[in-house]
Amino acid sequence: MGRPSTLLFVVLFYALETRADFIATTEETPLGNSTEWLADYTSIESKFSLRSPEVPDDDLCYLVPGQINTIEECNFKRTSKTFVVIHGWTVTGLYESWIAKLVTALFEREPSANVIVVDWLYRAQQHYPTSAAYTKLVGQDLAKFMNWIEVEGNYTLNNLHLLGYSLGAHVAGIAGSLTNNKVSRITGLDPAGPNFEYAEEKVRLSPDDANFVDVLHTYTRGSPDRSIGIQKPVGHVDIYPNGGSFQPGCDLHKAMLMIAANGFAEMDQIVKCSHERSIHLFIDSLLNEEKQSMAYRCNAKETFEKGLCLSCRKNRCNTLGYEINKVRSKRSSRMYLKTREVMPYKVFHYQLKVHFFSQENITFTDQPVQVSLYGTHDEAQNIALVLPKLSANKTFSFLVTTDINIGDLLMVKLMWEKDSYFSWTDWWKGYKFNIRKIRVKAGETQAKMTFSAKDGEMAALVRGGEFVDFVKSKEDQASKRHARRHGHRRSKNPWKSNSD
Ligand SMILES: *[C@@H]1O[C@H](CO)[C@@H](O)[C@H](O)[C@H]1NC(C)=O
Ligand SMILES: *[C@@H]1O[C@H](CO)[C@@H](O)[C@H](O)[C@H]1NC(C)=O
Ligand SMILES: *[C@@H]1O[C@H](CO)[C@@H](O)[C@H](O)[C@H]1NC(C)=O
Ligand SMILES: *[C@@H]1O[C@H](CO)[C@@H](O)[C@H](O)[C@H]1NC(C)=O
Repeated sequence: MGRPSTLLFVVLFYALETRADFIATTEETPLGNSTEWLADYTSIESKFSLRSPEVPDDDLCYLVPGQINTIEECNFKRTSKTFVVIHGWTVTGLYESWIAKLVTALFEREPSANVIVVDWLYRAQQHYPTSAAYTKLVGQDLAKFMNWIEVEGNYTLNNLHLLGYSLGAHVAGIAGSLTNNKVSRITGLDPAGPNFEYAEEKVRLSPDDANFVDVLHTYTRGSPDRSIGIQKPVGHVDIYPNGGSFQPGCDLHKAMLMIAANGFAEMDQIVKCSHERSIHLFIDSLLNEEKQSMAYRCNAKETFEKGLCLSCRKNRCNTLGYEINKVRSKRSSRMYLKTREVMPYKVFHYQLKVHFFSQENITFTDQPVQVSLYGTHDEAQNIALVLPKLSANKTFSFLVTTDINIGDLLMVKLMWEKDSYFSWTDWWKGYKFNIRKIRVKAGETQAKMTFSAKDGEMAALVRGGEFVDFVKSKEDQASKRHARRHGHRRSKNPWKSNSD
């Protein structure tokens, strides 16, 4: 069931895409550059539903531009924060189940807030390219609404946060570029890619559309013109969880298990699992305040996978989601993190750096290893990872993650597993590397530590052998004491390497 549905979705998504060029080439808006049209409410087709904490999943009261009485009738709070939720393209023409979840989470975090859901379902259920082109009109509707609420509602747009998913992210961007004053923030939740990857800034989400624009990219698989989520950075901070192309827990096998457990009730979530993960990551940030995920700036996901980007210096790290630090860097920055498959998504990131000594000139690729981390609070055992390369007298850096909060790291264990090609000849040869120490950097605490072989100067990491223990180095502790006594840090940074 999972495969046909996924295919259906993908087929639908790309239906007529080849005829979609008209978006990029649409003529200038007939409204010209006058701003008078902004006060013309008669053409507005989108609806603005003010939700309530009591009934978060239903449209009970609409704010209608031009009808000032609706502000009172719907109990719009002029001094509270306002969130505006904007859906994306839809097959069914109905709200998807995430809307109620996001609205509920927003109220849970900010009980006194206004939460508005933009209903553009009719325009959103056309062929994808048609709906994509409609983002311009819906953006204009929303801009008119916001200008109206600002003037008639005496409301400052500096209290307004737009959250747009997929095509809704571009609606938010277009709307934000048209208001008289800038809105405070736009969060783009996996902004749609098709027809927007190469579009000009004014017809898509871009950093100029709000005082702060943050973006989550969760389903950017494939070539840029085929990717469901936009691949390029379009905000001040662009976060690519798990590399941004695909999300853990979203493979078909997992989808089947989910159907077995919940039936087809959450089909929309299953089919668009990676795309929609952007929303659930944001919901997670609202609900799990003590488990905020950290993202780290990095030039490429391959570099991040080596653990080389866990620095927080000069705003290099940030909190994913609601609590994000609003850093408006000149160049948009790509940030990365790993997550769990399910909420809460937070994991802790560690860089391990190891020099592998050997008398023999040996090299291995794709080697399975296991790492166990022991800390002051807890331990994370048997974390499996595959090291792309191991060779004699070379230093390798790799990323280890765990969802367990172990506290301060006290001990590291390392084991080199047999891989599938392991043979008895290998056993007989007894391949091994000697390791003197393991350097560890913890992303979440920024702590840097060195661990040394527990027994003797060197520890032998034998292929297919046992775990080898590494304990907090005396040298490490001594140098810390030295640094404290002399009031300076060690000047030499052992974390810098030529691969940095
Ligand atoms: C539009 O802008 C141009 C110059 O940018 C100006 O000459 C023209 O009068 C403007 N039109 C309106 C309707 O404001
Ligand atoms: C608008 O808001 C400001 C500050 O919140 C307040 O001083 C002013 O009286 C309000 N005006 C109206 C017409 O409500
Ligand atoms: C690795 O370095 C050690 C000295 O640290 C040396 O004895 C050994 O021959 C080197 N191994 C290879 C394969 O070059
Ligand atoms: C190690 O072996 C590789 C080929 O397996 C060779 O290219 C390289 O020069 C050797 N290095 C040393 C130090 O012997």
